Amino acid sequence: MTVRDPIRPAILNLAPNAIAEVSRMGLGDPDIIPLWFGETDLVTPAFIRDAAKQALDEGKTFYTFAGGIPQLRSAIQAWTTRWYGTTPDINRIWVVGAAMLCVTTALQCCVETGDEVVVVMPMWPNISQAAQAVGATPVYLRLDHDAAAGRWVLDLDKLEAAIGPRTKAIFIGTPGNPTGWVLSDQEIQAVLEISRRRGVAIIADEVYSTLYYAGKRAPSFLDHATEDDNVFIVNSFSKAWAMTGWRIGWVVAPSRLSQAMAQLSVSNNTGATVFAQWGAVSAIERGDDFIAEMVARCRAGREIVRDFVASQNRLSWVEPDGAFYAYIAVDGLTDSLAFAKDLVRTARVGVAPGRAFACGPNDTRDEAYLRLCFAQSPERLKTGLGRIADALNR
Ligand SMILES: Cc1ncc(COP(=O)(O)O)c(C=O)c1O
Repeated sequence: MTVRDPIRPAILNLAPNAIAEVSRMGLGDPDIIPLWFGETDLVTPAFIRDAAKQALDEGKTFYTFAGGIPQLRSAIQAWTTRWYGTTPDINRIWVVGAAMLCVTTALQCCVETGDEVVVVMPMWPNISQAAQAVGATPVYLRLDHDAAAGRWVLDLDKLEAAIGPRTKAIFIGTPGNPTGWVLSDQEIQAVLEISRRRGVAIIADEVYSTLYYAGKRAPSFLDHATEDDNVFIVNSFSKAWAMTGWRIGWVVAPSRLSQAMAQLSVSNNTGATVFAQWGAVSAIERGDDFIAEMVARCRAGREIVRDFVASQNRLSWVEPDGAFYAYIAVDGLTDSLAFAKDLVRTARVGVAPGRAFACGPNDTRDEAYLRLCFAQSPERLKTGLGRIADALNR
């Protein structure tokens, strides 16, 4: 008699993360220029670190409100009013942990085992893995690459066609990782319309909302969704405030879920780290100048990459409108993972392989791509790109 396996097949089958596979080869090695992760080389600013230190010194080390300390939720509400001109009810704002946990919590609200989540691709692989972890099957919808116009395009008919009887949610990142593609206001309205008509939720990942080059911030679902829409709008302190290691973000949830979000936060994590939340209060109340600094740094990085791509005859890209990634196509490249590993070994520079962003293991459309994060000091970025150029021209 065979003994049944209590571990879910979806968990046993979680694919290895290709970015981790590359970064494992040299994480922390000072000789390697790491452009593989989505983070700047800047340490979190002192005014944020000091607030967290002060919280520790004041003994803020106990259990607290699982959905976030009231001071932080109010500060997020005020910041949203300042940046978006709209004021979500405080009972819709939940600080359950970092954006990744916000995404997982939103998924928990929508999907049961066997349900589907349409994921707009190319997308950071952790999202599909989170869907699989809660029992859902990701259904991939890739943006079309319009080479002639030099842009990524969302085909709304294909989006609607990807929705089946078991689809419960659409995951869409705007600005996106790795493409930096941004939804327009009209597209946001159209996606909302589809979600209302077809009875599917939207998980809108807006962690790069303020890292935007064509205006103060990217168009947002906050501009168009009502409190009754089944829309979860996720944001994070990780990117705009250089706080990746703090693990703090928030989600604006549909109003009818206010009780449920608090309860889910209890069962998932019983709240985000309390002294990190006090750092986040300082970030969001006093950090607008720092965001401007980050955008300037990213804008300069984008220009450096633009010149670099233009100088190399094998490279092309769609210049991103937001976020801080260059998703670069390398003419003739057929194995992005092997090439990224080779870059670590021989050129001492770390990038994320296109394979990580593919629509499943059999999709080869991203094999020619490399993703790098340009939110770096100009010197470091130029050195890293120079090493990539040497490897390409070897
Ligand atoms: C689209 C997207 N969502 C979420 C995250 C994770 O954010 P956090 O650090 O707050 O979990 C990232 C990080 O790279 C991301 O690119």
